[in-house]
Amino acid sequence: MHISIAIDGPAGAGKSTIASIVASKFDLVYINTGSMYRAITLIAMRNKISHTDVKSVCELAKSLKIRFKGENIIVNDEDVSIDTRSINVTNAVSNYASIPELREILVRLQRDISNEYDVVMDGRDIGTVVLKDADIKFFLTADIRERARRRFQEFKEKGINVEYNKILNDIIKRDYIDSHRKLSPLKKAQDAIEIDSSRLDINEVVDMMSKYIMDYIKSN
Ligand code: DC
Repeated sequence: MHISIAIDGPAGAGKSTIASIVASKFDLVYINTGSMYRAITLIAMRNKISHTDVKSVCELAKSLKIRFKGENIIVNDEDVSIDTRSINVTNAVSNYASIPELREILVRLQRDISNEYDVVMDGRDIGTVVLKDADIKFFLTADIRERARRRFQEFKEKGINVEYNKILNDIIKRDYIDSHRKLSPLKKAQDAIEIDSSRLDINEVVDMMSKYIMDYIKSN
């Protein structure tokens, strides 16, 4: 039986943490599509390619070999996982992710991976565009202040000093761009199961999702 699970939601809702636990629990390949947009953004910025230079961004995207090694993202044999999480990339990525031609390239790649493997894929447009026929779709949300608090905590644990208000403002900005772009804006798929994680810890969310997944597996 082939299975595909989509998890969408805004920045900081806990998608990647939850998706990676769900992946190991059910032996699925975890595809973090945000990290793919981040990887293109990182390499474009290194090469001084602006998001307004659509042609060069797309040529670059087509020339790169992107793959996953567990939770890490590898571009042309370089593990860029840490660099893709930098503040510079975080602040620029929504602009690159708004390029329709780039989205087309990455969506194709994401579908190819899902055709080949059992996947849990997280992002913004997985249930609505990339895997419209996903077997199970989740839409994971959380209150915006709680999402900013989690990001703040994450940075603090890594020893990175950033003001809470700056993180909150960046999330507000990113939410706006992600949900207002013309192509594939962040949106709950009609058939997605919505989970608000504001007052739930990681295990509670994983347990909730696991019940739906187990029901699906039992009935198929
Ligand atoms: O989930 P994240 O913060 O790593 O995502 C990085 C950016 O990429 C975010 O601004 C939204 C965008 N993105 C997207 O447009 N479509 C996806 N499927 C995944 C991420």
